[in-house]
Amino acid sequence: MRLDVVTLFPGWFDWFVTQRHVANALAAGHELRTLDLREHTPLSGGQVDDTPFGGGAGMVLRVDVMDAALRAHYGVDPVDLRRERRVIALTPGGRLLDDRLVDELAREPDITLLCGRYEGFDERIVEHFASDAVSIGEYVLAGGELAAMVVCDAVMRKLPGALGHSDSALEESFSVALDGRPEYPHYTRPAEYRGWRVPDVLLSGHHAAIRAWRREQSRGRGAAEDG
Ligand code: ADE
Repeated sequence: MRLDVVTLFPGWFDWFVTQRHVANALAAGHELRTLDLREHTPLSGGQVDDTPFGGGAGMVLRVDVMDAALRAHYGVDPVDLRRERRVIALTPGGRLLDDRLVDELAREPDITLLCGRYEGFDERIVEHFASDAVSIGEYVLAGGELAAMVVCDAVMRKLPGALGHSDSALEESFSVALDGRPEYPHYTRPAEYRGWRVPDVLLSGHHAAIRAWRREQSRGRGAAEDG
């Protein structure tokens, strides 16, 4: 998979790519590039944003700046780019990221993530350049960079070679294997600590019983949402 992040702060991702599962995915042949929005701005002084029409606080990322950045990097009109690859605008009003969307994205060969800043994007960026708008939660961040890292993290750990154990991402919280429910609880050594014992079934060595207990626990945790 090739993941591109269009951002005003490419340096933020220097740390991110050193994280184990991301580094593993990159070593396995996947790519994560950052594209600097400021590099190709047609405006003087590296300007990328402007005051909102109609008034109001803050600054808005300009559509001509995003157009120039995407055109320079991909060599096509950004209006056509979204037909070739998923182009995702990160914005609090977008589709809420969940395991289903992460799975969907993990199957894509190419994804471009657009990070807004300040008050966000000029809406024409979302309307004409993006194939999707995605939110990581109903709160407002200062910019899309952390949201892009959340998307990259969640997607990249699903890629073959990212996690140490190939099954680690299969039966986990909200996965299809657990019917979209939260994961069962995990325990490790010591088996007893300050009188808090690990459930006996996990120490029993009976794999079928362990599997049944885990499903039961997962179902119990999902009960609140199931009503
Ligand atoms: N940019 C600012 N807030 C965001 C959020 N909650 N999700 C995605 N992008 C954002």
